[in-house]
Amino acid sequence: MDDPASEAKTSGPLHLVVGASGALGSRVTHRLLAGGGRVRAASRDPARLAALTALGAEPVRLELLEPSGLAPALEGVDVVVLASHGLVPPSRRNTPAAVDGEGARRLIDAAAAAGVRRVVFVSVADADREATVFARVKRATERHLERAGVPWTVLRPSIFIENHALALLGEPLRAGKPVPFFGSGSEPLNWISADDVASEVVRVAQDPEAEGSVRELRGVDRLSRRDALALLERALGRTARRQHLPVPVLRAARAVSAALHPGVHALLDLALDEIARGGDPADEAERADVVGATRVADVVAAWARHAASGAAAA
Ligand SMILES: NC(=O)c1ccc[n+]([C@@H]2O[C@H](COP(=O)([O-])OP(=O)(O)OC[C@H]3O[C@@H](n4cnc5c(N)ncnc54)[C@H](OP(=O)(O)O)[C@@H]3O)[C@@H](O)[C@H]2O)c1
Repeated sequence: MDDPASEAKTSGPLHLVVGASGALGSRVTHRLLAGGGRVRAASRDPARLAALTALGAEPVRLELLEPSGLAPALEGVDVVVLASHGLVPPSRRNTPAAVDGEGARRLIDAAAAAGVRRVVFVSVADADREATVFARVKRATERHLERAGVPWTVLRPSIFIENHALALLGEPLRAGKPVPFFGSGSEPLNWISADDVASEVVRVAQDPEAEGSVRELRGVDRLSRRDALALLERALGRTARRQHLPVPVLRAARAVSAALHPGVHALLDLALDEIARGGDPADEAERADVVGATRVADVVAAWARHAASGAAAA
């Protein structure tokens, strides 16, 4: 007899997750697969998707800078989740303009031509403020999506705890390396968990009421990068060697990089905007459309426990 669960698995909507190797895309893929969904997971190097492939995702090679891979990746796809970016690591070729701009817009046009039923585009908090190179690129792609002739939803999350606390601060701290800060790192920021953003991606992808809407996503915590490092120091029981890049140096580097290195320029531009506006507004979470419940301290504590059990096993 046919198993109804496996029947559902092969007959539900097919999702193409672009950026499936990333913090958000991998979590979206996990959630979709855990719910019995069908996922085509995209990466420039599908070997990075081995764990997701083992769970049932169909891997596909997709380089947003190359138009030739778009049509095969989109074949039979119902929902596209666009969770890629070209901000880090800073690159001369893989820039926000090339990836989040031109590459994303080409994929959106190809999705419209292929009859995709929803594109969920992951943008950035307050993209409509257009205060940075990155926000301007994201906003231009949002506008393109609004007119592309394919049903859409835009999500604008604040910074991810997993990237900005664990990867940027926690990993160097754990490895005994200097922990880099742009400026003093004392500006209060809103932090959201990539897990909470992933649940919202999966939810809006199925929700007819989310079609044609832009949602600002925020977390519950407002703390500075220094506060986040203090949580990590306590959790790991070690003191960081902080490396502060002074603001005048950052400004000079931003000016020089404008012509020489667009990837570095976009990153410094973002860092200097954070400093110039003194962090995120205090009422950020109240003004958000969606507020994730996960706390920075809980993500840090779970990560530190995991790190300690790995060290004990090694
Ligand atoms: N991290 C944050 O704090 C944050 C905050 C707000 C919004 N967002 C947005 O959330 C989304 C996901 O971010 P994330 O932090 O999860 O990303 P991430 O972990 O840094 O991963 C970036 C992803 O982009 C893909 N990618 C980069 N260049 C590509 C290209 N040329 N062609 C195809 N794929 C490419 C990478 O895939 P491969 O390397 O495997 O090809 C990777 O999966 C992005 O849209 C980002 O702008 C992130």
